[in-house]
Amino acid sequence: MDAVIAPSILSADFARLGEDVNAVLHAGADWVHFDVMDNHYVPNLTIGPLVCQALRKAGITAPIDVHLMVSPVDRLVPDFAKAGATCISFHPEATAHPDRTIRLIRDLGCRPGLVFNPATPLDWLDYVIDELDQILIMSVNPGFGGQQFIPRALGKLEAARRRILASGREIRLEVDGGIKVDNIARVAGAGADTFVTGSALFGSSDYAATIVAMRREIEAGRRAAL
Ligand code: DX5
Ligand code: ZN
Repeated sequence: MDAVIAPSILSADFARLGEDVNAVLHAGADWVHFDVMDNHYVPNLTIGPLVCQALRKAGITAPIDVHLMVSPVDRLVPDFAKAGATCISFHPEATAHPDRTIRLIRDLGCRPGLVFNPATPLDWLDYVIDELDQILIMSVNPGFGGQQFIPRALGKLEAARRRILASGREIRLEVDGGIKVDNIARVAGAGADTFVTGSALFGSSDYAATIVAMRREIEAGRRAAL
């Protein structure tokens, strides 16, 4: 599967969001990772469907990868589908009926994803993996950009990759939190194919050079894992 770079706009310049998102996309990013926080499921407050819709109205056509860190989940799913979300991922602990939430996302025409916090077991996949288009492994605790990568995510990525292979389905394996040029090879080697990066990309002075360096490291990590 082609590697996808998904910049987390949590670290973008909110005062000129459209421009900054266009800049990372022109610099070679593939998706827009859209972090939604509610000061309830996570201790922070960010952006909602109106901002997603505004990006679409501003002409952004790249896939928008919505990462819901909210509870309850279902109330917001139709709003994001209408606002132009491509993928909608949620944390299974945040909804009363994860299977129902997955079906809701699918029925509204979006790609459903399940997100695993550092302490959340992959067992949730036992009965729903066939319904998913992506699995997101958190390599930090959700709530803030700019945190340190938690190395235990590597073994979890390997385990998730094994489950995806066993399912025989095309499911993206995404990693989110503390991803930088100097650790992206390791997460690629552990099986990730979709890479969220916030502070390391938006904090760099040259987006294109950072993305080129990340892609080079991803290829190196994949080769080393063969
Ligand atoms: C954390 C968010 C991440 C975060 C990534 O809750 O889900 O997407 O913004 O930012 P960095 O790359 O700075 O860890
Ligand atoms: Zn995220």
